[in-house]
Amino acid sequence: MQKDPIQLYLDLMKKCLSFFIWGEIPQPVEIPTLNQRQLDAWLALRETLNDDAYHLARHVAFDPARREEGLDHPALAHTMVGLRRLDNIQFCVEDALAAGVPGDLIETGVWRGGASIFMRAILQAHQVGDRNVWVADSFQGLPPPDEEKYPADKGDQHYLVPHLAVSLETVKANFARYDLLDDQVRFLKGWFKDTLPTAPIERIAVMRLDGDMYESTMDGLTSLYPKLSPGGFVIIDDYGYLESCRQAVHDYRQAHGINDPIWRVDWTGAYWQKGSGGSVISGS
Ligand SMILES: C[S@@+](CC[C@H](N)C(=O)[O-])C[C@H]1O[C@@H](n2cnc3c(N)ncnc32)[C@H](O)[C@@H]1O
Repeated sequence: MQKDPIQLYLDLMKKCLSFFIWGEIPQPVEIPTLNQRQLDAWLALRETLNDDAYHLARHVAFDPARREEGLDHPALAHTMVGLRRLDNIQFCVEDALAAGVPGDLIETGVWRGGASIFMRAILQAHQVGDRNVWVADSFQGLPPPDEEKYPADKGDQHYLVPHLAVSLETVKANFARYDLLDDQVRFLKGWFKDTLPTAPIERIAVMRLDGDMYESTMDGLTSLYPKLSPGGFVIIDDYGYLESCRQAVHDYRQAHGINDPIWRVDWTGAYWQKGSGGSVISGS
């Protein structure tokens, strides 16, 4: 049976963005971690090779099941969310498109851009030219916790992780690698508390929050949820993983009387559909 080219393209995008198609690359070995015997052997080999382009690297096992769940941090992937959460983005966006839910798509917290690139790919695959993908990030990592205003973030150390800071130029270049950088992609550079309240977004069909912290999740919900169309989706990447993020979701929902059921995507991702009603299902 012939495969549907749209599905084939989107499946290929998911495998590329998550690096699933290649698995893993050898990881560089830090010289100070070598013992004396290993160091002597490596220096002797380098001398024999007589070429600075050689580096010492070790094989890293690839576990497809972990990558599917976004449980490892791939060295080169453009997203860390894994295949199941990419499937969930596709489900939400395609459902909103099919139902004619008005509005744009947005991700707050994009890292190397992969999940946002995938949103743009879905619009492209379905030939949708009248919706934007908004890409919101500081492009310099997470903010230090504001413990007075957000006690749930007390002790949060994400802001110390250099790996989480990816520049705007790099993210744009990643969109361009897939031929998906165009005027339907709109960047919001800065802290969410500064950019989201005044972002020139009229309506939203799918909002994906991936900012890890209480503050980042709450800022996204406060500024964007009122713009989410009925029938639109809210996706929370860190709902299962981070207590502070989950707390922000519960606080916001309680303050605004939101009872739409929360569905689990995998060990951490969760989502709900605005106006789907019913009682809260907290899932596994
Ligand atoms: C876990 S990463 C996002 C992963 C990404 N969605 C993916 O597909 O791999 C978290 C991102 O959120 C951004 N971030 C978190 N809190 C923020 C805030 N308050 N303002 C701006 N950016 C923030 C960080 O810079 C980082 O790029």
